[in-house]
Amino acid sequence: MLPLLTVTLALCAHLTTAAPVEAVQVAKSYQIRGVVAPIFHLYLQSLPSNSAVPVMGPESGAEMFQIGSTIQSDKSKLFLNIGAASTSYKPLSFGASGNTTAWGLEGDTIITTQGSSYGRQLNFLACARSGASGYYDVYLQTGSDTPSGQTCSNYQTLHLPCLC
Ligand SMILES: *[C@@H]1O[C@H](CO)[C@@H](O)[C@H](O)[C@H]1NC(C)=O
Repeated sequence: MLPLLTVTLALCAHLTTAAPVEAVQVAKSYQIRGVVAPIFHLYLQSLPSNSAVPVMGPESGAEMFQIGSTIQSDKSKLFLNIGAASTSYKPLSFGASGNTTAWGLEGDTIITTQGSSYGRQLNFLACARSGASGYYDVYLQTGSDTPSGQTCSNYQTLHLPCLC
């Protein structure tokens, strides 16, 4: 852990000194990835066959996102929204309008904020997508329900690769 941290800090320090000082902070885009199996280093993106479906998939398809109270893809311009459900896991979708403004960052971790209707949540449920090997559907997980008949992993978290 320590050598990686040292390298990361060194890289950040380098970028900080190299970048010109700006009066206005320019919004930055980040990839969003999983960190443990089965979505270890899989990245958030649209399902290739349906841009409205957010999935965790290969790095080659990783999209960059503007992350604030909404999460918007630079590639598709679509927003990551949380759908309604009576189950503890809530479906995610990509839509033309950012009707979910619950998102936030805690360090490098994607959360829903304390003040949102979801409260502070950082767990996601990842379920292998049938018919699309290597892709995982992702749900916001507010409890411990899982869909029956699917292979899912609870308590996944989503992260920015680097805060530089
Ligand atoms: C929010 O956006 C999604 C698409 O991401 C859409 O399916 C849903 O109907 C929208 N909800 C509202 C309340 O507009």
